[in-house]
Amino acid sequence: MPLHRLTQIVMGVPNVEQTAAYYTEFGLIPTAVEAEAVGRHTFATVDGGEQLTIVHSDLRRLVRLGVGVDDSDDLDRVAAGLAALDVAIERADGSVTGVELADRVAQQPTPAPAYNAPGVTARNNERAPGVLREQPVRPRKLGHVVLGSTDREASQKFFTHGLGFKVSDEVSDIAAFMRCSTDHHNVLVQQSPVAFLHHTSWQVNDVDEVGRGASAMLAADPSRHTWGLGRHYIGSNFFWYLKDPAGNFSEYYSDLDCIVDDALWKPGVWEGARSLWAWGPTPPVSFLAPEDLGALMTGSHQAS
Ligand SMILES: [Fe+2]
Repeated sequence: MPLHRLTQIVMGVPNVEQTAAYYTEFGLIPTAVEAEAVGRHTFATVDGGEQLTIVHSDLRRLVRLGVGVDDSDDLDRVAAGLAALDVAIERADGSVTGVELADRVAQQPTPAPAYNAPGVTARNNERAPGVLREQPVRPRKLGHVVLGSTDREASQKFFTHGLGFKVSDEVSDIAAFMRCSTDHHNVLVQQSPVAFLHHTSWQVNDVDEVGRGASAMLAADPSRHTWGLGRHYIGSNFFWYLKDPAGNFSEYYSDLDCIVDDALWKPGVWEGARSLWAWGPTPPVSFLAPEDLGALMTGSHQAS
């Protein structure tokens, strides 16, 4: 697959400083101190380099999403794909409409901790590593981004026919989980009354890191809690969602399905509870329809 990863997301928010402080607590690594004076903050993950930029916007919104490719032939293919859809192309040196030449993410193998199970004592005479860890949780990479679209089909076509994403699973007539890497999904587009950024999702080592990361965020401010701990059915990942001060959700995840051989994966079309989760608490209404959707709709109408 010539596309190989998400490179970076640029989020626009009305409250840049507050939101930047939140993502620092979330475990991202601030990288551009000199840029703070102009209200622009950048953050790195452990393995993905600089992956989040926060800039000012009157309404919270997705400003840019970057997708990495290996070489310029891939850019030509993306340009042709977008042209076939009659999408205006922004071509610059090394990029086409957000698709850019980028190194692949090289992750050090991080084996799952030894778990005891019935009839299997894999960890002898030791406490579980998950209870002994004290270091702050550090996301390894940006895993996926979820977008609301007023025309899901057109947005899905943009990503698949235009850019070259593959569909991993769908929720009938509502959403498509798409990948640009071996991760089960890197972009999810869902039908919505207004275009908006629903959440960003950040990979951590294992389920203990999902729990430790979220617990630390909630110890500082319990009102950040949105939904978790649980396990999704689609993608299989453990999840815990929190809300940033601008109203975007941010997710810690681990153990996402990986699709290394397209021929061996059977995309499904799912409905009902399964489309949301396998186990965990019932999702709050405010996760499915964020409380500021009405304000975003009004604001976007005023802006247009
Ligand atoms: Fe997610």
